[in-house]
Amino acid sequence: MPVTVVVGCQWGDEGKGKIVDHLAKGVDWVARYQGGANAGHTVVIGRRSFVLHLVPSGILHPRPRCVIGHGAVVDPSYLMEEIDGLVSRGIPVEGRLFVSEGAHVLLPYHRWLETLEGQDVRVGTTKRGVGPAYTDKISRVGIRMLELLQPVRLRRRLDEHVERVRVLFAAAGQTPPQPLDAARDEWQATLSGLAHRLRPYIADTVTMLHEALARGEKILCEGAQGTFLDVDLGTYPFVTSSTTTAGGASFGLGLPPSSLRRVVGICKAYATRVGEGPFTSELPREEADALRERGSEFGATTGRPRRVGWLDLVQLRRAVQLNGVTELVLTKLDVLSGIPQLRLCTAYRSNGAARPHPPVDTEELASCQPVWEDVAGWEAPLTGVRRYADLPGEARSYVERIEQEAGTRLKLLSVGSARSAVVPVPTRSR
Ligand code: IMP
Repeated sequence: MPVTVVVGCQWGDEGKGKIVDHLAKGVDWVARYQGGANAGHTVVIGRRSFVLHLVPSGILHPRPRCVIGHGAVVDPSYLMEEIDGLVSRGIPVEGRLFVSEGAHVLLPYHRWLETLEGQDVRVGTTKRGVGPAYTDKISRVGIRMLELLQPVRLRRRLDEHVERVRVLFAAAGQTPPQPLDAARDEWQATLSGLAHRLRPYIADTVTMLHEALARGEKILCEGAQGTFLDVDLGTYPFVTSSTTTAGGASFGLGLPPSSLRRVVGICKAYATRVGEGPFTSELPREEADALRERGSEFGATTGRPRRVGWLDLVQLRRAVQLNGVTELVLTKLDVLSGIPQLRLCTAYRSNGAARPHPPVDTEELASCQPVWEDVAGWEAPLTGVRRYADLPGEARSYVERIEQEAGTRLKLLSVGSARSAVVPVPTRSR
């Protein structure tokens, strides 16, 4: 049974939460492969809105079991809070959520280090400690979830880390926010309590998913953030610290690359970005303010206003290539109603020449100018539309132009936050 991967084609916030929720209905497993509580997935069910940061949004359906893979970094306090929040709202979690014993643990000192090193300001991070937690992992000193369950070993590991943090703060001539010995005792006590409560959730998720594959069960892999925040393929250094692209599903969950045969790329009908870094199709302030308000473009994790721009087709074409997108979903199309003229960025101009592909050098990218194509907008609201044929002609033209440039099938449109607000795109319309 092929595995499905859902991946963001921009800088995150494409509306993956809603689409994962839509696709999760018929699957057996929903597995998150990277990132930490820096992500924020919003799912609206009737009058209830759920914002999930770590737990896959598949948990909101009764059937799928959910996995947080070893490619993610997990703040145990945060995870427990999220589980408690779901349970208090009537969502059963125990026996349905499994966290890889190989996932790395994010501790309070990771947040301290993020500020100490200035990553929060330079990159505009979510300040959740995600970068330093991945740094520990890659430096081969990280603490993994399985160690939470072994108090003596955990104490030894915390001792090692406290010494490292002491040296780093001393080198920077700064004092840690809390005396380190007291902090270590506090962390040990907190983690021991949490270990007891999290024990039923910590599992060998690689074996679990392989057994599921062998039984022919359907697995949906959920990426956090988006393609251009990928640490290798994004707008480095203005990226997150993990592999957000579809390949991350393979090594973040231990699934063979050959099993990832369906890749659903999620693209918003316009563009947004949170944090620093180049944004070629960014709108000037006043227009950005208007679109931000219409689309409620404020970070689900930090509440920060998102930077806003027109849809960048250069970026979309590259995202389709990098992820091997087999089908595309266009979200938030309803937000564009009432704008008389829309724009698409079809190429970049750099040193007088047009570039069909984004440059690898982020400084060069920052100097690229957008090449615009103007497209007619439409007046009618789209939130109530459920059939492709009922969309205004201009909306269909906009969608079909995007599909043509993306070079892959556009299968679904999202026209509102409600679960039902989706419009399938029939094959015959292409
Ligand atoms: P970090 O992931 O907190 O280290 O932040 C690195 C960059 O990724 C910053 O520009 C963040 O704003 C951005 N980022 C991280 N998570 C998300 C997300 O879920 N949506 C959008 N941007 C994100």
